[in-house]
Parts: sequence; C-alpha cells; structure tokens
Amino acid sequence: METTPIPRLSDGVIYLRRLTQADAAAHLAGEDEDMAKWLSGGHSTAATVRTAIDKFAEQWRTGGPRRALGVFDCSNDRLIGFVEANLELPGDSAEVNVSYGIFPEWRGQGLAGRAVNLMAEYLRSATDARGILLQIAPENSRSIRVAEKAGFVLVGVHEFAEGQRVRYVRKL
Ligand SMILES: CC(C)(COP(=O)(O)OP(=O)(O)OC[C@H]1O[C@@H](n2cnc3c(N)ncnc32)[C@H](O)[C@@H]1OP(=O)(O)O)[C@@H](O)C(=O)NCCC(=O)NCCS
Repeated sequence: METTPIPRLSDGVIYLRRLTQADAAAHLAGEDEDMAKWLSGGHSTAATVRTAIDKFAEQWRTGGPRRALGVFDCSNDRLIGFVEANLELPGDSAEVNVSYGIFPEWRGQGLAGRAVNLMAEYLRSATDARGILLQIAPENSRSIRVAEKAGFVLVGVHEFAEGQRVRYVRKL
C-alpha cells in the first residue's frame, strides 16, 4: 500500500518525479567525477544504480525517511539531475537534510536552486519539517553558490569522518 503521496512537482522549466528502472541508464550516464565525489559516495555501475532506484522506490512505498526524486527538463522530459530529502537527521528533527546534483551538460543555469525550491514545496505540503539543511564540503564552491543564491544562511561547520561540511539552513 502507498503510504506516501507520489509528488509531481514543476516550475515550468524542470519537474521532479520518482525514478523508475527506465531512468537507470540516464542516471548512470549523468554521473561525472563531481557527482561521484559529492553525491553518490563513489562511482556507480549499472548494477548499483538499479539497486539504488529499487531502494528509492521502497522508501516511497513504505513512507521511509529518504525522499529521492529525479530532476527532469520540461522541454524534452530528459533526466538532468537528482534531489533527495532525508527526513531522518540524527539529533535534529526540525530540519531536513537535502542533497542535489545536476548533470554536467545542464549546469550553470540555476537548475539546482530550482530543484531545491521544488523539494521545499514538496516538504511543506507533505511533512512537518520546519527547515532545510544543506551540508556542503568547503571546497565544493559551486554547491556553496547554490546555497547562497537560494537564500540559505550559514549556521556553522560540522566535522564528519569524511571531512568538514559547511551547514546552511533555510526555513520552509
Ligand atoms: C553543485 C551543482 C548541483 C550546481 O548545479 P547548477 O544547476 O549548475 O547550479 P548553478 O547554475 O546555480 O551554478 C552554481 C555555480 O556553479 C558554477 N558554474 C556556472 N556554470 C557552470 C557550468 N557550466 N558548469 C559547472 N559549473 C558551473 C558557478 O560557480 C555557479 O555559480 P554562479 O551562478 O555564482 O556563477 C552541480 O555543479 C553539481 O551537480 N555538482 C556535483 C554534485 C554536487 O556537488 N552536489 C552538491 C553536494 S552538497
């Protein structure tokens, strides 16, 4: 039984929807070094992408904390990126951790900010989260620009085993 509504969110330029196995090849093709480093936690293969998509679908089906959506170009329905909200933030339940990636060909057009705004729309309508938290490596200057341009406020730096992450917050 579906316990979580399936969102289809759009701003007329991009839309977000759940990924299916039909998206696997495009998802894999879009992964460059930066996506592998900052988002996927390493290089993906056809098999790991298929498994990841199954896990995303399972999370939606069971109402799990991870809400992963593909980012699509409205003009041609191509998959151009990924955005995910993780409702399970250890030690801090008021904010939802959001991560994102835009495939190389589509970068530099403000699309990551659009994806974050659409995810915010979803979170406002479907959860009681009060804010969005972005955790960005200090050297990931492009992602820091996304946070700044989207009106996030710098709240501190957190030390993780994998390195420092700059924390940005925006109210929902
Ligand atoms: C970070 C990322 C999501 C930004 O997406 P985007 O849609 O290109 O974002 P924007 O268009 O707002 O551009 C952000 C910055 O990227 C840089 N940029 C501009 N054009 C670019 C291009 N063609 N290619 C790459 N970077 C570009 C600029 O510094 C820009 O800032 P500016 O607008 O002040 O000039 C994207 O680079 C990406 O997917 N990176 C790999 C995954 C990642 O780092 N995710 C975030 C984890 S915290």
